[in-house]
Amino acid sequence: MSDQNHRQQVIDRLKDKEKIKVLFVCLGNICRSPAAEGVLRSIVDGGGESSRWVIDSAGTGRYHIGDLPDKRMRVHAARRGYTLDHRCRQVTESDFDRFDLIIPMDASNEQNLRRIAPDPDSERKIVQMAAWVGLASRYDHIPDPYYEGAEGFELVLDLLEDGCRNLYESLRKPI
Ligand code: 4NP
Repeated sequence: MSDQNHRQQVIDRLKDKEKIKVLFVCLGNICRSPAAEGVLRSIVDGGGESSRWVIDSAGTGRYHIGDLPDKRMRVHAARRGYTLDHRCRQVTESDFDRFDLIIPMDASNEQNLRRIAPDPDSERKIVQMAAWVGLASRYDHIPDPYYEGAEGFELVLDLLEDGCRNLYESLRKPI
């Protein structure tokens, strides 16, 4: 099945649910995934659906457990109006029970998630972030900004704003 077909199946399964529980996953859980969490929360709040959505993030690595997001990510996000106050945690097998939709930022995060997914139904909850980013995008993953300059952080936020907007529009309650 193509990525787009899989994404559509996930949308069809979730869009009428009372609650939608989304977990964003990256390597460190200090740059990309906490930013995605902040961006989606802001969009959901703006749409008046904050009580319907549970939004969290986690990392496949364990280097930064308990830390706030990277200072650079917090500064770039704050300029766009997002406050990132997540505390880093590592993803666990039980996250596959707690969340409906698990969104890795790149292929390596996705591979690691598939390794800990307990069963095929759990694996079907995984849809990469790039699948939500506009089709015209030339990015098939959200590039890790950790060793990049300011442009890397801005690019991540541009991609996340586009992808989270599309994710929200796909799953919001019909008006
Ligand atoms: P993230 O970025 O996966 O977007 O949070 C990284 C943060 C830290 C490290 C790697 C990537 N690290 O190696 O410490």
